[in-house]
Amino acid sequence: MIYETHTHFDDASFDPDREEAIEKAVSSGVKRFINVASSMSTSRSSVALAEKYPYFLASVGVHPEECADLSESDMDILAGYAKNENVSAIGEIGLDYYWDEPDRDIQKKWFRRQIELARDVNLPLIIHSRDAAADTYDILAAGKAEEVGGIMHCYSYSSQMADKFIDLGFYIGVGGVVTFKNGKKLREVVEHVPLDRIVVETDSPYMAPVPNRGKRNSSEYLPYIIEAIAGIKGLPPEEVETVTYNNAVKLFGK
Ligand code: NI
Repeated sequence: MIYETHTHFDDASFDPDREEAIEKAVSSGVKRFINVASSMSTSRSSVALAEKYPYFLASVGVHPEECADLSESDMDILAGYAKNENVSAIGEIGLDYYWDEPDRDIQKKWFRRQIELARDVNLPLIIHSRDAAADTYDILAAGKAEEVGGIMHCYSYSSQMADKFIDLGFYIGVGGVVTFKNGKKLREVVEHVPLDRIVVETDSPYMAPVPNRGKRNSSEYLPYIIEAIAGIKGLPPEEVETVTYNNAVKLFGK
């Protein structure tokens, strides 16, 4: 059984064949999906998707690039969604200094505020962090994020940083990059980090693993990611599947 910890099945690219794509993922072994929100509107659509499809849970939250126009009333709306039993995480939230918009102060403000929200509603975090390792760590630590824990989604930093995030109660989210030719840094992290701190994710429709790189990604490709991790760890894929599944259950509660 595979636990998909990060997908966006509400994305418009799935409009023509959503049912079929979900079926294919289930056939490839996926038994649980976290549909991750990145804005107020995708928070709403993630909740709706989790209501509609068995196996699905939702996160609600606003990505750093989408936070320019947020207000306190939006936080109330997210807190309301969080009461739904299908909502299992707050995310994806964080910092993105690669695109670097909106201003870092605005990104930080809403990152802090949504960590506070996660602690209020007692749900784990799904963190998006790009070119912002130190600030992400400092804000999580200062915000007492270890009380709820979470996932460092699409992890792109060093092994040393991974140790620090793990000490803060976080799991390392490993996706298609582990299969890429230029994915050496992530493969080193996977080698370094204990398997009981790794979860798998696709970030579909983005980031398709080899051999499907460049195409629309879908959760049905998770076995390629699991095989890559198994190769690095020198373990059977079934063990990687089981351990990462149990890790996610521990974090999300189901
Ligand atoms: Ni994502």
